[in-house]
Amino acid sequence: MPAFPRTRPRRNRRTDWSRRLVREHRLSVDDLIWPVFVVDGDVARTPVASMPGVDRLSIAALVDAAAEAAALGIPAIAVFPVIDPSLKTPDGALATDPGNLVCRAVRAVKAQVSDLGVICDVALDPFTTHGQDGLLVDGQIVNDETVDVLCRQAIVQAQAGCDVIAPSDMMDGRIGAIRDALDGAALQQVQIMSYAAKYASAFYGPFRDAVGSKGALGQGDKRTYQQDPANSDEALREVALDLDEGADMVMVKPGMPYLDIVRRVKDTFAAPTFVYQVSGEYAMLKGAAERGWLDGDKVMAESLLAFKRAGADGILTYAAVDVARQLREQA
Ligand code: PBG
Repeated sequence: MPAFPRTRPRRNRRTDWSRRLVREHRLSVDDLIWPVFVVDGDVARTPVASMPGVDRLSIAALVDAAAEAAALGIPAIAVFPVIDPSLKTPDGALATDPGNLVCRAVRAVKAQVSDLGVICDVALDPFTTHGQDGLLVDGQIVNDETVDVLCRQAIVQAQAGCDVIAPSDMMDGRIGAIRDALDGAALQQVQIMSYAAKYASAFYGPFRDAVGSKGALGQGDKRTYQQDPANSDEALREVALDLDEGADMVMVKPGMPYLDIVRRVKDTFAAPTFVYQVSGEYAMLKGAAERGWLDGDKVMAESLLAFKRAGADGILTYAAVDVARQLREQA
């Protein structure tokens, strides 16, 4: 590139039409996955205090919301159940019950909304009294025993109509085991989106408020299975394993503090790569916007565009519906 004054980078930025013409990345509604919280009972919406604008929805309200998301062109939702504490057990047995809340919610959405992908988390934390993602034996999260339960959880969810199984538990070997279990149950068409590089992050706090696993977890943490935020190469090994075991798509989580991981994963594997803008990221942006410290819509749009620039093919964001509406208004 010739030096200044031959080269003047500002020339391309001078007008709106020119900025649009040279723009490298765009956010589209097709990039969005909307995570939603569902709860039993007749109360349509219960706000999550630490996530302004996010409600826990009854199944009926979820169906309406899912229909709205589909109408906006959002490709998929990710359903997270809020389980009544009285139904939680140390072994999270409800996770494998085909009549549990998440399975009933998936059936209701699938029966009434077409052309919308439904993604379900595979992990035991909504169902365990201790709030851990796996089985707790003598103070340890036991891997292989947990994987057996996760396989059964994946099958009941897929049989309820879930399109994409998304293991978020970070046990070793679970992707291959779940793939085999699904195939063995004639569920070969069910996709797997692996939470492949999921970090032991403090940014999950508001999510744990929303699903009620924070109180359960207490002073506990997930550092023996979720990744150390200090590590980057380790994320590539995790992704390699999950792709090898049969993951159709991989995810990096959280998002904004881990854009470097998104870029490395995309460059290294060229696989469908997703990023989760987690509850704490959402809360930071919304909380500051509520106080008037940031322009909420602008910082959200900029954050989501940054995920695209980092190489993400799609983004899980609690703001999906708002953003889809804005994209529609701009179109
Ligand atoms: C549960 C799960 C978590 C999230 C998604 N699935 C929380 C955790 O691992 O403690 C976090 C999502 C968010 O913070 O938005 N396995």
